[in-house]
Amino acid sequence: MAEADVMPAAQSRASEPAEEKSILRFLTCGSVDDGKSSLIGRLLFDSGSVFDDQMASVERDSKKFGTTGEAPDLALLLDGLEAEREQGITIDVAYRYFSTAKRKFIVADAPGHAQYTRNMAVAASVSELAVLVIDARKGVSEQTRRHMTVCELLGVRHVVLAVNKIDLVDFSEARFREIEAELKKAGEAFETCLAIPVSARFGDNVAARGGNLDWFDGPTLLHLLETVQVKRDEAARPFRMQVQLVARPDLDFRGYQGTIASGRIAPGDPVVAALSGRASKIARIAAMDGDRDSAEAGEAVTLTLEDEIDISRGDVLAAAESRPEVSDQFAAHLIWMGETHLLPGREYLLKCGARTVPASVTEIGHRLDVTTGERLAAKRLELNDIGFVKLAASQPIAFDPYSENRRMGSFLLVDRFSNDTLAAGVIAHGLRRATNIHWQSVDVDKTARAEAKGQKPSVLWFTGLSGSGKSTIANLVEKRLHMEGRHTYLLDGDNVRHGLNRDLGFTDADRVENIRRVSEVARLMADAGLIVLVSFISPFRAERRMARELMDGDFLEVWVDTPLELAAKRDPKGLYKKAFAGELKNFTGVDSPYEAPETAEIHIETAQTSAEDAANAIVDYLRDNGRLL
Ligand code: ADX
Repeated sequence: MAEADVMPAAQSRASEPAEEKSILRFLTCGSVDDGKSSLIGRLLFDSGSVFDDQMASVERDSKKFGTTGEAPDLALLLDGLEAEREQGITIDVAYRYFSTAKRKFIVADAPGHAQYTRNMAVAASVSELAVLVIDARKGVSEQTRRHMTVCELLGVRHVVLAVNKIDLVDFSEARFREIEAELKKAGEAFETCLAIPVSARFGDNVAARGGNLDWFDGPTLLHLLETVQVKRDEAARPFRMQVQLVARPDLDFRGYQGTIASGRIAPGDPVVAALSGRASKIARIAAMDGDRDSAEAGEAVTLTLEDEIDISRGDVLAAAESRPEVSDQFAAHLIWMGETHLLPGREYLLKCGARTVPASVTEIGHRLDVTTGERLAAKRLELNDIGFVKLAASQPIAFDPYSENRRMGSFLLVDRFSNDTLAAGVIAHGLRRATNIHWQSVDVDKTARAEAKGQKPSVLWFTGLSGSGKSTIANLVEKRLHMEGRHTYLLDGDNVRHGLNRDLGFTDADRVENIRRVSEVARLMADAGLIVLVSFISPFRAERRMARELMDGDFLEVWVDTPLELAAKRDPKGLYKKAFAGELKNFTGVDSPYEAPETAEIHIETAQTSAEDAANAIVDYLRDNGRLL
């Protein structure tokens, strides 16, 4: 039945032979010292493998154009980014294509240097099986356990431990059994977890048994690779297609393009757009070679629907009776790839399928000690760390847990300024609370409240070093506005830190949270119709930008620009003195950075301008720009 269904699709690909060999994607991990390369070399040589250039080119095409083949998930996402020239990191994974009489193989080889976690994560995300090469003399190492953790996380369900250099322990069964026993517990997480003794040097048990390992009754490495059943039947899962493009050459034809992530469809099948929940039926399935009767996971198609419903790029077309989750909050495992560490509260861009939304980490549940599997408390994640976090996005995304659907459950976090990829993530589950809190629509709105006060709400955001004069100037501005009968409020760092933010200190993470809360408060106050003055060092561009975006065009950044030397000389609170003496840590401008504004509406150089003149200039700016009615 399943056979019959897939045949037309298979035949339509002219380049493939009539009798299709199955493909196994596997990754290899281990260090050069353990003999990883020689083992692969030996495997290729002894099995009489041929390199499969044709397959390599099909693969490359599929990555580039997304037209054929299984979904390479994370790798596809990363490749996409690379194509858009958006990312600053290099993924260093080598792919080899070869085939034996029984099977085709794609080997993803991630080198083991410093950035190995990210390389390995990408290799694992496209693989069904992992060959972990270890040295029989050394046994299961920390590195081995780390590899197993990453495999487990990224959905590699089959692991083979190639216990190499067994010749150097005299082909000892006792030694092998010891290693096998060590593996037992760590291996529980996998469908297959098997230790195999091999000698890459002499070839024992790689492709053929050889005379030295008679005591071993398991398979040879090659036999296992050729026969292991790993296929996850993506086509049997519920239908999902992330909409990459909405094609609309004329008004009668609105086509949704994408690669089917899972399931199969035929004209007439009921589908929904996951984000809006709107329903329709498949009208046509258009492919390169004409209309089709059906299509399934892995195929790139253009779908048209029976009804005109509003679906945009980034939405997900899904089986009506089995929908993905839609939520703006979820729990996920992150593999941190950024050179700078994760800051909870900072806004990053989350890319999931074709959808990109701002999102931040609201909580780090734990960091994983990748060698022991222990969960550790953590305030931040650094390069190569793996952690379990909660994320909040500014808009909902449609997803499935990664364990159910690799493509629908993986995402990237990208830096909003540099576009560097900071993390790869796999979604564990949605957080129910997001679905139960809805925006309460209120009848008296911002405009109505502001009109009652006869004014236009604004947020004047003063940023600058400690002692730069922010509070002094903000204070004067508020006095002037107040005398004019304006409704104002001044939020000041030192004051807010005594109340709402008294739990926060001056680490980067605390400053991010400090500004996040203050921006939200400022937004509420602007919503109440007030002119809000915010006076915080707010040293990071990312959070000032977040504040700006929250305010809907009512945001004015005032850079109170005072050279560090001058602020330190004024030193109104004696803090610079302490900071330079090393008695006060993380002091802005001394041992904690200040990122100067690039887009401030008002720039005040206090070395040349008195506080009064500065205040006048700001009030003039407000008036000249129609913000004081
Ligand atoms: S912010 O960086 O998070 O925006 P905020 O404006 O709230 O800082 O608080 C800054 C005030 O806290 C300074 O004016 C100073 O009085 C005080 N302060 C105490 N410790 C520090 C520190 N390590 N760095 C900067 N300011 C500090």
